[in-house]
Amino acid sequence: MPENEINVDEINEVLIKRAIAFPAAEIYGGIAGIFDFGPIGTLIRQKVKELWRNMFIWAEENVFEIEGGLLLPEPVFKASGHLDTFHDPLVQCEKCKSMFRADHLVEDTTGERADSLALEELWGKIIEQEIKCPKCKGSLTEPRQFNLMFETEVGATGGKKAYLRPETAQNIFLDFRRVSHAMRATLPFGIAQIGRSFRNEIAPRNYLVRMREFTQMEIEMFVHPEQINNHPYFYMIEDQPIRLITRKMQAEQEKEPLEITAGEAVKQGLIPNQFMAYYIAKEAQFVEELGIPRDNYWFRELLEEETAHYSAANFDLEIQTPMGVIECIGNAYRQDYDLSKHSKHSKTKLTIQYENKPVVPHVIEPSFGLDRIFYILMLVTYQAGDRKWSWFKLPPYLAPYHVKVCPLQKKDGLPEVARELFEELREELDAIYDQTGSIGKRYARADEIGIPFSVTIDYETLENETVTIRDRDSTEQIRVHVDDLFEVLHLLINADATWEEIKGSFAVESSKKSKGKRK
Ligand code: GLY
Repeated sequence: MPENEINVDEINEVLIKRAIAFPAAEIYGGIAGIFDFGPIGTLIRQKVKELWRNMFIWAEENVFEIEGGLLLPEPVFKASGHLDTFHDPLVQCEKCKSMFRADHLVEDTTGERADSLALEELWGKIIEQEIKCPKCKGSLTEPRQFNLMFETEVGATGGKKAYLRPETAQNIFLDFRRVSHAMRATLPFGIAQIGRSFRNEIAPRNYLVRMREFTQMEIEMFVHPEQINNHPYFYMIEDQPIRLITRKMQAEQEKEPLEITAGEAVKQGLIPNQFMAYYIAKEAQFVEELGIPRDNYWFRELLEEETAHYSAANFDLEIQTPMGVIECIGNAYRQDYDLSKHSKHSKTKLTIQYENKPVVPHVIEPSFGLDRIFYILMLVTYQAGDRKWSWFKLPPYLAPYHVKVCPLQKKDGLPEVARELFEELREELDAIYDQTGSIGKRYARADEIGIPFSVTIDYETLENETVTIRDRDSTEQIRVHVDDLFEVLHLLINADATWEEIKGSFAVESSKKSKGKRK
């Protein structure tokens, strides 16, 4: 989608005004990098989580979901490497004392990537480019590393240091032994988790993109090291087209992604193994379910200097959005890094039996940033200019409600019939009832939060048991018999039929013309 066509500030304001996503502790001026999600935001996020669960947990045989503690003791992060390496370069203005990420300042000045530069190199650039404080033009201090974890002490007497987890992955490694035993898991198997993680970002920015408290949806897939190139269901995704930007392409300044199937990418050695390719292919399907056009996303192999300390290879899903390219899924090949480190530091055997021998499995990690995915969904579905109100063209299965039920008038028995229908619909669908204000205003309010269909009960309903369905995207209305309503809504919501197809097969004429006979 072309950048600049959409005003991101305007969308952010709409998200706040409609209480979809807004700054936490807003009445006290907020707290940078932490957001609350209101009722509609929560419902949409719930739908994205369910899509993820369906595709990555329920569709698999051996993936178990857990919910781990947010606060973990210091030795966990000594072992994981986060205490020693999970930092960003910080500079401070000598005059106004503002803090900045040194690499961001260098990137903003030079237009070149700087996230992999060493402290001395960043300092060299700051001197060479005469970079000053963006706020007051004061001189900057030499950069130093700033650890991104939130630290606290546990217990009334203190003394025991703990940290808020910077990734949900760590609970999964810590729980590996207990979960694998309890679930009688055999390799390959996965442990998944949806939950909050915390990073004390020096400069939270871009609204829901770089947050200090955020939600991850992660899977650690445990695989026998010798089976890493042998996914049992690879045949199911090997023909999936994917778009890749490899390290070699980046070195050659090739910006146009390579179109290739997952199977061919493994064959040509572009993706290191079948397990990694399996997830990349499934993520491509997930992104398509979100409604992101194919041309707007690709998987970029991270450069060596960008790759995390635990990873042998990384492919990030990057999406072109109205606010630039946003990375929203990371795929890392963590090998046995974490299990081996935790085993050594905790003096606990973290192995699993495979053909009667203990094995330390290798790990493939697909890590999804829910907030970024949610934000991109809102950015790319935002519509303005065609109506007097702005609205969200959310895919119907991701909308906060599938259907709004309205009586045309608040009298003559219409609300009673409407409520009865609403109660029936809500047994199977996410439905909301609305009888307040003019029908036009009620349709507009449905559009504003992305409800795809509105069903209205009117005087004809009392005569011939037909109702109208209004389609959010076209604003067209058709009349259908209530006996067909569930089928029609299911077809539309699951994208099993288009609006035009429904019109052709189910629409009846108004009783002003006939008696509501079905076509
Ligand atoms: N678990 C990977 C990450 O949080 O970046």
